[in-house]
Formats: sequence, C-alpha cells, structure tokens
Amino acid sequence: MKIPNNLLEMDVYFDKVIKLLEEWQWIYEDRATDILLSDTLNSHFLDFLERLDYNELNQLPNGFIKEEWPEKLKNFIKDCNELSLIYETYPYDETSQIKIPTKVKSKKYLSAKKEHEIYRLADYVVKYCNDNNITRVYDIGSGLGYIDRLLISCSDLSIVGIESDKSKIETAIKLDNSLLEKDKLGNITYLGVRLETFTIEKVFRHIKQYEDNGCIIGLHACADLTVDTLKLFLLLEKVKSLVLMPCCYHKVQDNESAIISSLLISKLYPNKMKLINSTFLRLACESTKERWLTQTEHAHNYHGFSVLARAVVQSYMNYKNYKAKRSKNNCITAQHNMQWPQYIKIWLKRNDILNELNEVVNSDTLETELLEYWPKYKHLIKRIECFTSLQVCLQSLAESLLMADKLCYLLQYALKNVNAIRITDPAISPRSLAIVASK
Ligand SMILES: C[S@@+](CC[C@H](N)C(=O)[O-])C[C@H]1O[C@@H](n2cnc3c(N)ncnc32)[C@H](O)[C@@H]1O
Repeated sequence: MKIPNNLLEMDVYFDKVIKLLEEWQWIYEDRATDILLSDTLNSHFLDFLERLDYNELNQLPNGFIKEEWPEKLKNFIKDCNELSLIYETYPYDETSQIKIPTKVKSKKYLSAKKEHEIYRLADYVVKYCNDNNITRVYDIGSGLGYIDRLLISCSDLSIVGIESDKSKIETAIKLDNSLLEKDKLGNITYLGVRLETFTIEKVFRHIKQYEDNGCIIGLHACADLTVDTLKLFLLLEKVKSLVLMPCCYHKVQDNESAIISSLLISKLYPNKMKLINSTFLRLACESTKERWLTQTEHAHNYHGFSVLARAVVQSYMNYKNYKAKRSKNNCITAQHNMQWPQYIKIWLKRNDILNELNEVVNSDTLETELLEYWPKYKHLIKRIECFTSLQVCLQSLAESLLMADKLCYLLQYALKNVNAIRITDPAISPRSLAIVASK
C-alpha cells in the first residue's frame, strides 16, 4: 500500500498492522537458536508449505498461495503484501551518474555493495542539494567517509562528518589526504562525538555556527542513531532537509526501555515487548523477499542446516542444563556441505561446556552425546526453510512498520514532504530506504 500521508491514515495503518502481529507473533517470538524449545515448528501451516518445492517457496513472500490452503494462511500472505509499504524508487540513471574521479572510485577501499550504496545515495544527495540550494551537508555516522569523498569530488558541497569512533575519523582523514584533490581538502571537517540524548545539545551548538542552508544525511545509521538524528533535525532551524538511510533496527540493547526508545510513536508502546521485541527488530533488517526469490536449493539446505545446527545445540544444552563458555569466536560460519559431526567438532573447540556445578564437561562425552542427539531433528531442515519463508513474508511488513513509525513522528511536527524513497537496489543492498523530509 501507499505510504499513509497524514496522521489519521497512519493511525489506521498502525491498527491494521498491530492486529496482524497479534495473530502471528509466534513467527518471531523466539530467537532462531530457541526454535526447538517451543511449539513453533509444530504449526500445521508448515505442513502445507512443506509440500511446496523450493521454487514455489521462494515466491511465497511475493504472494504465492494455493487455493486449498487454510484461509488464515492465505490471508496472512495477502495481508503481509498489502500492508507492506510501496515506496517511490529513485530513478537512478546509470548513464548520467555523477562524475567520480578514478582515484576516489578506487575499488581497493570498497566492496561492490558499498560502492553501489554510495553511488546511489551520493547521486540522490547531489541532485537534492542542487534543487534545494543546499551548500552544506552534515553526515551523521560518517564512518570512513566513503560517501563524503564522493560528494566532495563531484560537487561544491561542504561536509561536516559526525562520528563517534575517533579511530574511524583518523582513517577517514588519511583517506581524504590520499584520495581527494588538495584544493578540496578544506571542504570537509569532522566532529568526533557520539550523538545521543545527552550530546544532542553539543552537536546542535556545533551545527548552529554554520550560516548556510544545510541538509543532514546518513548512510546506514544504526537504530539509535536514526532516532537521535531525527530528534536533532527537528531542533535545528537552519537545517531544512534530511536524507537518512536507517539500518540495523535491532542494534539497541535487548531490554524493554531500549526498545521503547527506539520507537517514536506512543501507539506502539503498550504492545512493546509482546509485539515489538528484539527478534521483530532483527527481522525488519533481515534479507528481503527480493533476495529470497533467487535462493537455490543448495542455498536453502545450507541455510536450513545452519539454523537447525544452532537450535539443536541449544536444545541439547537446555536438556542437560549445561552452559557454554565461549573460548574463541563463537560464531561458526557453516561451510557449504558441512555435516553435523564436523559442525559439533568446531563448536566444541570454541566453547567450554559447564555443568550445573560449574565443572567443565569432557568434550569426548559431549561429542558422543551430540552425535546421538542429531538424528531426532535432522529431518527438520526443509521445515525450517518453510518457517523462514513465513518470516520473509513478514520482513517487509516489519520494516514498513518501523519506517511508518519514523515518518509519522516527522508528520506530527508538521514537516513538509515527509517520504521514504528507495535509493538502492534491495537485491544488492537490503537496507535500501531513505527517510526524506524538509521543513
Ligand atoms: C553502519 S556504519 C555506517 C558508516 C558510514 N555512514 C558508511 O555508510 O560507510 C555506522 C557508523 O555510525 C557510527 N555511529 C554509531 N552510533 C553513533 C552515534 N550515536 N553518534 C555518532 N556516530 C555513531 C559508527 O561508529 C559507524 O561508523
């Protein structure tokens, strides 16, 4: 559906989404590792999905249904699609892209995904600033300054990078010195500060000194940073525009008050931990249905195995009342075609397992027991992929709700032109939306 453009429509939208989430919260209630500790995988809806081949399963989030399925399942898929917001897509023209000096383009410093993101956003920002006579850009969470060097190289914009990590600013300055033309170096300055409730005043005072027409931008501003940036924007009279791409909605602390403060519209608060928990925030920034559409059978087996392996380990640990103490990096990147025996060998190498008396359990015993534990669950790989496909159905809706929360917040302050625009290709860069607003 189109983005609601007034508070009344927003209210109706929130009501509809909340109703759907109340019925389907079991889909995102548990963390992936806890999936075997609840009844989640026993849902009879998964029986219908298990009869699909992977090609059909890939199309589920795009509205694929079978007439003989239960009404509730069919309505879920339809409602997820209908309630997912449809965004205007920025018509990036490959042939008329902003001209970037080869030096700044240097692939040495950029992944293909990052390059895609900065080209698209820089192109949008330059045109937006030209159209609105903006001469200064405040880049919040500027990181290593990738987009800033691009903006400087292809426009006369002045940039202020605001970044909490001082070592990133140091690296950004080194890269500026080696990649930018000397006469452009004066066009960028940095403010090393962490933007948060307590420092908004400080950043506000710093930005206030500039007289020129300004625009706040941000590429992949993690959860809190997006919220604090919106608050800062509302404070700054002279900064008339905002182009902000949020990401990592779940990177708030996993507690009720942190989750509440990452939400801006009070309507969503009463439902907080029940409907909007950390797994929901994580789901909102998972892979998109555009990416799911191209999953091969091999990729499904690999994904299903990775999820199942972690869940089986968790189930075993719960059953035995053991605790894992991480001895090395805990995260196992399951290689393709990895089998269970290999997985548990790596896992046991990375963790010390303690029993109820806090004694280390012999790893040979653990290995034997875990080998015996697997056969009970190994048939669940496809079922996990069916369950994941339901989550993918909900992904764009979850992201829509969080986006609507932010847009509605700006609408409450009677800002003009509040919108969310798709800047990057979601199949390449899943967090593809920019909040755009002007005063
Ligand atoms: C995901 S990175 C994006 C970096 C850069 N915009 C880019 O796209 O390459 C987010 C950046 O924001 C910075 N950051 C996170 N929270 C911040 C805060 N509250 N205030 C200032 N910077 C912050 C991080 O240190 C990190 O460099």
